[in-house]
Amino acid sequence: MRMRKKKNGDLRFERCAGWTIETEGLKEQFYSHFDPKKPIEMEIGSGKGRFIVAHARENPDRQYISIERVKDCLIMGMEKALAKGLSNIKFFCLNAEDLLEYMPEESMDIIYLNFSDPWPKSRYAKRRLTHRRMVKCYLPLLKKGGKICFKTDNRDLFDFSVEEFKDLGFELSELTYDLHATDTPNIMTEYEERFSSMGVPINRFVAKPSEQTYALLSKVEK
Ligand SMILES: C[S@@+](CC[C@H](N)C(=O)[O-])C[C@H]1O[C@@H](n2cnc3c(N)ncnc32)[C@H](O)[C@@H]1O
Repeated sequence: MRMRKKKNGDLRFERCAGWTIETEGLKEQFYSHFDPKKPIEMEIGSGKGRFIVAHARENPDRQYISIERVKDCLIMGMEKALAKGLSNIKFFCLNAEDLLEYMPEESMDIIYLNFSDPWPKSRYAKRRLTHRRMVKCYLPLLKKGGKICFKTDNRDLFDFSVEEFKDLGFELSELTYDLHATDTPNIMTEYEERFSSMGVPINRFVAKPSEQTYALLSKVEK
């Protein structure tokens, strides 16, 4: 997501400081911030935060984590949470590649990947969040029995992701090439709103790893 640098970024971030947590030592202290008895759901690449903030608002008994590497985008999500006074969501300016340094393994019930950057050129394929190299970076965060929900307008990225996840032994379900034509409950993201209003169909699948997935990923180089 390209964004012009926001004025007063530091000041705005400070105002929302209650919606983030210092990342140093976070992995060790994670469960003093998050209740292990309640579900925890994470969106990686959450942009301006519309989706994850709406989820947090609708599900006060669940906990939400927004991961976004562009601080100016992250701040916009934090401001939405501040405006609604939500107490069940935290925001982190992190790269997906580094998540295992900061979050404990098997802590997430659901990981959402929404309209991930497509990186259409094959020489940059390794940067796609659904490329096996990236999956290896965040899959250990998922609880056993947890799931990854992926949606995108980009058919090439979707086809690549279906193949990549099948190759890795994931069990795919709820696969659709037109999410809005189904009766699946759905909260729209900023990108989804934009593309679907232009008539672009939205692709989605839900993926659950198998034992084979972990074995195959152990051989993947980061
Ligand atoms: C195309 S935008 C989609 C934003 C939002 N999910 C939506 O659907 O409106 C992709 C977002 O993912 C973020 N992103 C891409 N790669 C990332 C990574 N490796 N770690 C964290 N965030 C990433 C980008 O900065 C960008 O904000």
